[in-house]
Amino acid sequence: MSDHATLTVNGITVELPILRGSCGEPAIDITTLTAQTGYLAYDPGFGNTASCRSAITWIDGDHGILRYRGIPIEQFATKPNFVEVAWLLIFGRLPTTPELKDFSAKLTANAHLHEGLRHHFEGFPVDAPPMAILSAMINAKGCFEDDFLSSDDQQFEDAAARLISKVRTIAAYAYRRAKGLPVIYPDPKLRYIANMLHMMFSMPYDQYVIDPDIEAALNLIFILHADHEQNCSTATVRMVGSSHANLFASAAAGVCALWGPLHGGANVAVIDMLEAIHRGGLSPEDVIRRAKDKSSGFRLMGFGHRVYKNYDPRATMLRDISERIFTKLNRQDPLLDIARKLEALALADPYFVERRLYPNVDFYSGIIFRAIGIPTDMFTVMFAIGRLPGWIAHWKEQHDQPGGRIARPRQVYTGPDLTNYTPIDQRPAPAG
Ligand code: CMC
Repeated sequence: MSDHATLTVNGITVELPILRGSCGEPAIDITTLTAQTGYLAYDPGFGNTASCRSAITWIDGDHGILRYRGIPIEQFATKPNFVEVAWLLIFGRLPTTPELKDFSAKLTANAHLHEGLRHHFEGFPVDAPPMAILSAMINAKGCFEDDFLSSDDQQFEDAAARLISKVRTIAAYAYRRAKGLPVIYPDPKLRYIANMLHMMFSMPYDQYVIDPDIEAALNLIFILHADHEQNCSTATVRMVGSSHANLFASAAAGVCALWGPLHGGANVAVIDMLEAIHRGGLSPEDVIRRAKDKSSGFRLMGFGHRVYKNYDPRATMLRDISERIFTKLNRQDPLLDIARKLEALALADPYFVERRLYPNVDFYSGIIFRAIGIPTDMFTVMFAIGRLPGWIAHWKEQHDQPGGRIARPRQVYTGPDLTNYTPIDQRPAPAG
């Protein structure tokens, strides 16, 4: 196989090196393209662009394969906990027992929020979107940190533990504020996820009883969301981090990128769509018809993916969890039946088949969150808590790579050519 690609443009021939990832995927290295030819590479949405080298997560979209640090996602179905996976992603290998104990202890020790930080919540309107609060509070948390650009591994681990621990407290406080409920402080006796459920659902006079099956389901949901290579929010974290912005500012930017309905916000949009069908007036068939009609501007939410052209393995696992949770809680949700119907219709429809559109991670997650009692506007916050270790891992990887450059894409300019300034009294009135 050739180790370079030859490109001829406008009479200039250049040889561009070919790189291969550790699982074989080839990439043409165009770092010298503009210098050698004067041409830019045009790739809106970056669908063809590898923006970095990364050793964290591998996806084979054609075969529906996802691996964290080489480990297939399916192997996380029963054994490890989210904290262990977070450590794996950030530090590149599975932790030893003392390392995991130490990291868990750091999470426990850092669960509280500085009282000064807690008072920030009072400034938000009660109906403020929790994703806005989460982003603002992560950034505010940065004001309480000092040296978080340190390349010292121990200091970095401490900062990562503080961020992972406090983000869950921030999320719980945002929920309590929206509900007008008193803040519940973290309980050091509880593990990571149980503590989050406690802070969200306990009352000062009534301790929330942790159901181990719910804790296990949330554990797996967080693991499934923990990283997904260069998705929009992770690419944002790396983009912001490339200017040497600190970890907290970079993660806050990641939350904002995740918020949109084409990314993490899809888990809310899916439930809105299923509820609209459930209310009546719109059938699953109508929804499929609208999704296929380009003039409608509507998409089947929770379907399709930039990389997966096969079943998203996370969606398969989430569908299984949803079945387990509903059986365990002995509950039914009409939205689950509607989701299954929509899925079956889409998978049998040539429009979706030809475009290789399958359910993604957001299709079933919201239904599980609902069953657990998490309100819809907190769904994307749950995604953010799960994705945080991935963001931290990418921030660290980029920070540790020698010779890193600021992310600074170019553009194909389409504005006016050279134009002279016209004084205001000589400007013609706008047409119409
Ligand atoms: N419903 C209907 N048509 C779709 C959908 C959909 N959900 N997704 C893609 N298509 C069509 C699209 O119109 C295009 O058709 P054509 O070739 O005729 O122009 C074709 O499929 C390719 O789509 P694309 O827009 O080029 O795909 P993309 O890689 O730019 O977008 C996506 C990926 C996930 C944004 C998109 O599939 C989508 O909008 N899905 C719905 C929102 C969603 O579920 N987002 C969650 C993504 S996964 C987890 C996450 O990131 O949070």
